[in-house]
Amino acid sequence: MNSSPSPRKNRRTPIRALLASEQETRGVHLGGWVRTARSGKGVTFLELNDGSCFASLQVVVDGASPAAVDIAGIGTGSCIEVTGDLVASPAAGQRWELKAAGIRLLGSADADYPLQKKRHSLEFLRTIAHLRPRSNTFGAVFRVRNALAFAVHKFFQERGFLYVQTPIITANDCEGAGEMFRVTTLDPKEPPLREGLVAWEEDFFGEKTGLTVSGQLQAELFATAFSDVYTFGPTFRAENSNTSRHVAEFWMIEPEMAFADLRDDCRLAEEFFRYMVVHALENCGEDLKFFNDRIEKGLIDKLGKLVGAEFKIMTYTEAVTRLQKSGEAFSYPLEWGLDLQSEHERFLTEKIVGGPVFVIDYPARIKAFYMRQNDDGRTVAAMDMLVPRVGEIIGGSQREERYDRLERRMGEVGIPLKSLSWYLDIRRWGSCPHAGFGLGFERLLMYITGMENIRDVIPFPRTPGNAKF
Ligand code: 4AD
Ligand code: MG
Repeated sequence: MNSSPSPRKNRRTPIRALLASEQETRGVHLGGWVRTARSGKGVTFLELNDGSCFASLQVVVDGASPAAVDIAGIGTGSCIEVTGDLVASPAAGQRWELKAAGIRLLGSADADYPLQKKRHSLEFLRTIAHLRPRSNTFGAVFRVRNALAFAVHKFFQERGFLYVQTPIITANDCEGAGEMFRVTTLDPKEPPLREGLVAWEEDFFGEKTGLTVSGQLQAELFATAFSDVYTFGPTFRAENSNTSRHVAEFWMIEPEMAFADLRDDCRLAEEFFRYMVVHALENCGEDLKFFNDRIEKGLIDKLGKLVGAEFKIMTYTEAVTRLQKSGEAFSYPLEWGLDLQSEHERFLTEKIVGGPVFVIDYPARIKAFYMRQNDDGRTVAAMDMLVPRVGEIIGGSQREERYDRLERRMGEVGIPLKSLSWYLDIRRWGSCPHAGFGLGFERLLMYITGMENIRDVIPFPRTPGNAKF
């Protein structure tokens, strides 16, 4: 973090500010959770963490100090308040320690507290999602997540994009993949029927509704009024896939630009992605160092290289040809017209390109109805950005702005024109070339922290069979 307030008397000072202090300070006040408690000859050391930064502050309780009478019962996991003096530490590896004058136990924790050990497996920590934020790893993850959520707004606001909050409940399946969660107030046991089918017109909204899979269609409406807009919000997909890269509820950032084509779209995606990486490097150094040491060796080097790297652009057709020529034995079929599977995407970005790559101009057949049709009659102006380790991190396109083309395409894929009349209207009145993309916030966090499972970069993951916390 950039600016830490200096230590103040009579008010809780975050440990981050204490550790960044320039001078010894008497009479400071702090609070936190005890990571470890060790007693030696006439002295007790408490390692105290308040989440404001990665490091803990060592609290030293001298046997002769008045605070010593209060430390009985303070163990790992306890929450305490401390007053005392910030003094230079004689111990190696830390500049400051806190000489306690008074300690107050706010919440005790007995030996059943699950975070007793220094190290736990990520799988185990997932089962205690209510406590894992107090561990080193998840402290670091959620501080980076916070910093990057702020950077998303900073990036777009600096460039004059308007932040639009698109609805969470919607009647439209933007991606057309049929992965919507239903939202209804109808009685599941006895729904009203019409000719044997559920009469959705009698439901709360007068039609079948669900949780949004993307804010894009509404963002497009705003782009034809405000030119440059973005959304940043929760997104839902009822995909029954238990992979390390999918969750049923995730956060997506979706910019949409009027007067822009596919190349402009790739340029914005590249600039945005690089900005996120630089922001993390400049503001999350301590947390990234932990990821670099413990989670992905060479992470900081990888991020540093990305900042100066050129992002390649390759057509889908070329990607398929190069993958076929690679001689690699893939488990899924690979031929022109089929969607690239995650194994193909990763091989392309990791082995063939060795860095981020935009794959553009996909066959129309495997992409959503709204993408702009290319002149070759078989591909659309789509782009996916792929990065090593994660694979697809961004999906976007130039949109079909020509009324008749869009109308025809909707007919071909069986989307009733009536249901999206408002979307077509935008092409009727003041249509313009426009483009946008969606970046999965959790996939970005996986790339920047090196965490390998998407469940470990979102506070409370929603996956098939799991919505406990
Ligand atoms: O490629 P997708 O499906 O694109 C769209 O939804 C477009 N409407 C975006 C746009 O053009 N405005 O999703 C975009 C990104 C993916 O590249 C991926 O990073 C993320 O959203 N994503 C998921 N992240 C986690 N769990 C899931 N189930 C995800 N599905 C997509
Ligand atoms: Mg996609």
